[in-house]
Amino acid sequence: MEAVRLLSSGEPVALPTETVYGLAAAALDPTACARIFEAKERPFNDPLIVHLPASGWLDELCESSPLAWRLAETFWPGPLTLVLPRREVVPNIVTAHQNTVAVRMSAHPIFQNIIDAFGGPLAAPSANRFGRISPTQASHVMSELGGRIPLIVDAGPCLHGIESTIVSVRSNRLFLCRQGPVTREQLERFAPVTERREERTPGSLPTHYAPRTPCEFWKGDPPPAGLSVGLLAWNTRGKGFAQVEYLSDKQDLREAAAHLYTALRRLDEAGLDLILVERIPEVDLGVAIMERLVKATGSSQQSL
Ligand code: TXA
Ligand code: MG
Repeated sequence: MEAVRLLSSGEPVALPTETVYGLAAAALDPTACARIFEAKERPFNDPLIVHLPASGWLDELCESSPLAWRLAETFWPGPLTLVLPRREVVPNIVTAHQNTVAVRMSAHPIFQNIIDAFGGPLAAPSANRFGRISPTQASHVMSELGGRIPLIVDAGPCLHGIESTIVSVRSNRLFLCRQGPVTREQLERFAPVTERREERTPGSLPTHYAPRTPCEFWKGDPPPAGLSVGLLAWNTRGKGFAQVEYLSDKQDLREAAAHLYTALRRLDEAGLDLILVERIPEVDLGVAIMERLVKATGSSQQSL
């Protein structure tokens, strides 16, 4: 398999996961990981998520705990990333010299085939240039990283469409670093959950996921005259907009998440002066979608 050959020789390869496309490289090879930073123009102080071939690797890379294992057994393979104390074997470039490492196990069958054949952990951040919208289709990866990486494995659109939930696991508490497909309510069944606002990681800067076009929350007014304005709509039939993208005709939050980045990217590529964004209900998956929209509009000064 071409992807496995490239990964084994230290090259980065874009791979589908169930959340978004990732740019993968051998996690235990610092030079291979450096190529990820180079292709994405990612600052070296932003740590990478490590994807495991099997949950048994948890104890190889991290100081696990009974709580970490309960979460892994319940949600893996799937869209939950655990932040745990690292072991020595994890290169500093992966953790940005922190004493923790973020690990998950992808549920995507093609990702699983490739990582099984590769036979070791793969570091894989989202396959976009730093600070840009995460790719949920191979064509998005092509427009972000085309010409910079040797291979993009195309498996069609990603199932969830938003990045994994990230939770930092402490003795008997969970700190939610990034909202995602696994909800806070699901995590609260295992331990008390606190939103971790105080400790910022660079990838959680308020303007992450930003389109290039100015982007604001819509207050319901008609679009300003003389400007070409797009609408990212939840349930309103917008009038007078140059382009409207609906997150879900059925108002289904799963569908909205799966469609979010494609819709945002389409609006961003339409040559508009302004993108207005309709707020969506902050329940279930809506919390994770709104977290992305707040960042896309740059309207948050808080870290999440
Ligand atoms: O769904 C996902 O998680 C996707 C797919 C490809 O797996 N990956 C992804 O990676 O979203 P990335 O690099 O785009 O986002 C990873 C986030 C960054 O915000 C980074 O700062 C944070 O994880 N992170 C990584 N290691 C961490 C650590 N040790 N402690 C806290 N945050 C960490
Ligand atoms: Mg990312």
